Amino acid sequence: MFREQLAQDAAQIQDQFDLVLGALDDLDVTRAMAYTTRGGKRLRGFLVLESARLHDVDVARAIWPATAIEALHAYSLVHDDLPCMDDDDLRRGKPTVHVKWDEGTAVLAGDALQTLAFELCARPETGPAEVRADLALTLAQASGAQGMVLGQALDIAAETASAPLTLDEITRLQAGKTGALIEWSACAGARLAGADPEQLRQYARALGLAFQIADDILDVEGDAEKAGKRLQKDAEAGKATFVSLLGLDAARARAAELVDQACAALDGYGPRAETLKEAARFVIARDS
Ligand code: IPE
Ligand code: IPE
Ligand code: MG
Ligand code: MG
Ligand code: MG
Repeated sequence: MFREQLAQDAAQIQDQFDLVLGALDDLDVTRAMAYTTRGGKRLRGFLVLESARLHDVDVARAIWPATAIEALHAYSLVHDDLPCMDDDDLRRGKPTVHVKWDEGTAVLAGDALQTLAFELCARPETGPAEVRADLALTLAQASGAQGMVLGQALDIAAETASAPLTLDEITRLQAGKTGALIEWSACAGARLAGADPEQLRQYARALGLAFQIADDILDVEGDAEKAGKRLQKDAEAGKATFVSLLGLDAARARAAELVDQACAALDGYGPRAETLKEAARFVIARDS
């Protein structure tokens, strides 16, 4: 059920990108935006759509924030891959934007994808004005210097730190760089419905951490062909990860524990939350 739903949601998000980006002038920057938003698992967009279904929100509304978070996530990847950050030349199985075009185009495509995310959240189709304002406010908080950007800054700083990070420090780093956007995604369905996102937040906090641990494990023992990006780079770059601190086995055990926690957090929703629970199990079993 989860895999079918993910595939269906991914196709719908792609259609929405085609519609939105197809309306822009044909320039290098807009071509780069279309290029880099194509592909990926669409897990964050799925979380928006599935949490919306859980709250009986119409997909015609939820598709806007679902596309928004995938635009914001794509921006974070384009900038993450820049030579001044992780310096990667492959993403989603293709050359990164700064390799295919140039650094200026990559910076600008990232900038434009970020602002596009807020535009899509604020679109009238998303729903009542207070819902749109709430989505935009919380997305700004999740993306910026208290969220994703904070995590990325801690990630870069850790590369040159004199001592290894502690478990608490790595947890804070990862909660920012990966957790904040995943949390926003899972809470979006409740926000769209004007409902309390607390259970979804608990689910997403555990899920986000498990997701990044899986990414760190993939970096060590994944298949680059399947992952669509260069692997075995974290250790060399001096990245602070759960794997660098705990080792592979303990990191795997921690991820499995977090998935159990994520699933338990949704018990209040009953059987309707099964697809989200399946998503949590997928996150640590994935090979890309
Ligand atoms: C990769 O995210 C970057 C991290 C936050 C670990 P994903 O693994 O979700 O990448 P795509 O969207 O599927 O390409
Ligand atoms: C990227 O984390 C997180 C963001 C883009 C916010 P990583 O640097 O670990 O992601 P990959 O491994 O390049 O996909
Ligand atoms: Mg990085
Ligand atoms: Mg990276
Ligand atoms: Mg990584």
